[in-house]
Amino acid sequence: MPPYRIAPSILSANFARLGDEVCRVVDAGADFIHFDVMDNHYVPNLTVGPMVCKAIRPLVDIPIDVHLMVKPVDRIIPDFALAGADIISFHPEASEHIDRTLQLIHDHGCKAGLAFNPATPLDYLSHVLDKVDLVLIMSVNPGFGGQQFIPHALQKIADVRALITSSGKPIMLEVDGGIHVNNIRRVAEAGADTFVSGSAIFGQPDYRQIIATMREELAACHLDAPAAR
Ligand code: DX5
Ligand code: ZN
Repeated sequence: MPPYRIAPSILSANFARLGDEVCRVVDAGADFIHFDVMDNHYVPNLTVGPMVCKAIRPLVDIPIDVHLMVKPVDRIIPDFALAGADIISFHPEASEHIDRTLQLIHDHGCKAGLAFNPATPLDYLSHVLDKVDLVLIMSVNPGFGGQQFIPHALQKIADVRALITSSGKPIMLEVDGGIHVNNIRRVAEAGADTFVSGSAIFGQPDYRQIIATMREELAACHLDAPAAR
């Protein structure tokens, strides 16, 4: 099976006992912890910052995948790197200088991701594909968990997969929003390899079982391993 990764989003965790929630989802087989950062400016919601990332860092031995939905973005990047982030993704609309922001993330020792809203064209990728480690395709509009998957994202995922394949680089292709057991296989068949899931995992009593069921769906994919991973 290709190296699929499941990245539970803590946005749907019980924040009153976040440390315990994070440990439970790691024990249940999560590959990444997806850490959604919202600022009530770039998106109409407010979540958590580097202090919370720093607090959960010693509890987990898997990568922390920080998704910045903040504007401006550069000021906060070093803080997340210091707080133990492994991957930092941002939205191109939130940066005045995309190339500089990617460099800033790399300079701080993290992998860099570029995130695309449902209506954001992929054009932003054309001059920086060699500088990204991850492309994040939003399959909902950012700001809230529990929204419905926007089917238009499937074509976009396929388009990004084609770009990654032709680049020959091991760029991760992550999809975020509305991922459930009943659509994860279709999303993988479109070309994704990394799956953010918030409400579908944290909404269940047994995290291990839901992650295992997602992996069974992925194992049944009609697809050879995508060329670039
Ligand atoms: C939305 C966030 C997502 C969200 C996904 O802005 O970026 O990571 O938590 O939640 P679900 O899986 O519930 O759509
Ligand atoms: Zn996210």
